[in-house]
Amino acid sequence: MNKVVLITGCSTGIGRDLAQRLSQSGYIVVATARNMETMDGLVTALKLPLDVTDPESIQNAVAATLKRFGRIDVLVNNAGYAQVGAIEELTDDQIRQMYEVNVFGAMRMIRAVVPHMRQQKAGRIINISSIAGKMVTPVNGSYSSTKFALEALSDALRLELAPFDIQVVLVEPGAIKTNFDQTVHAHGDEIVSNPASPYRSFYRKYQQVSDRMRGQEPGPQAVSKVIQQALESSKPKARYLAGVAMSGRLIINLRDLVWDLVVRQMFSIIPQE
Ligand SMILES: NC(=O)c1ccc[n+]([C@@H]2O[C@H](COP(=O)([O-])OP(=O)(O)OC[C@H]3O[C@@H](n4cnc5c(N)ncnc54)[C@H](OP(=O)(O)O)[C@@H]3O)[C@@H](O)[C@H]2O)c1
Repeated sequence: MNKVVLITGCSTGIGRDLAQRLSQSGYIVVATARNMETMDGLVTALKLPLDVTDPESIQNAVAATLKRFGRIDVLVNNAGYAQVGAIEELTDDQIRQMYEVNVFGAMRMIRAVVPHMRQQKAGRIINISSIAGKMVTPVNGSYSSTKFALEALSDALRLELAPFDIQVVLVEPGAIKTNFDQTVHAHGDEIVSNPASPYRSFYRKYQQVSDRMRGQEPGPQAVSKVIQQALESSKPKARYLAGVAMSGRLIINLRDLVWDLVVRQMFSIIPQE
């Protein structure tokens, strides 16, 4: 039986590429986006409007999927964006809006599909986090905090939903060439280019690093390939890095190793022979 996969944020980038890839692999893909016309040209079993900040739109999309296919086997929480800016210079509303999409949006989706997955006694939820959900840099802290939240929620959900045969997996992309950068500019340019900002040296550095990376990032295929692996694995890992260079993987692994050593020391944990 072909699996029914519901994906959020399919207008562009990773979501769109994933919808295409899974459709071509024989999955029944329900591609969703805020504006239907942004999915023109995308061929999937079903396309639906879905804004993850709008509970009614979530209920409608889930109901329409169940009505058509009778089940939802996989949910991919992909919709998300980044608001750049020093914490002092961002408003509550700017940060809240990002949490509405990246954190509450994902939670709302999960609450909407889990009762059906529990009834089916099977399901998989793939949450698209980021390496920013593992490491924090200046002027990116509010975005990182949304992905840290998603990581924590996923870690709890993985355990809470395991007895119902629902697996929860995190996919953590590095810098990927999508519309992401454009959205970062749309939300952050005014803040980052303010010459009167006391944080201008951070912003300058941030822009230099972004410029250096631009053009070198892998495309969304690097992530959708990993998402498909996570979806098809009989024993999925808790988290998968995607589109992260070897040097980045090394730093992350080294950081984890050092932290483990510190905690072992702190709690006098002696490894078992
Ligand atoms: N690209 C990267 O470097 C990178 C790195 C790490 C993690 N990620 C994560 O990967 C995911 C996908 O991003 P991407 O790189 O593919 O960027 P993207 O091309 O900008 O795609 C983001 C998607 O999220 C959708 N979205 C935003 N707000 C929404 C809402 N309220 N309801 C429904 N959909 C909404 C966008 O729809 P609209 O077109 O309507 O705005 C778009 O389809 C995000 O969670 C992002 O945080 C990306």
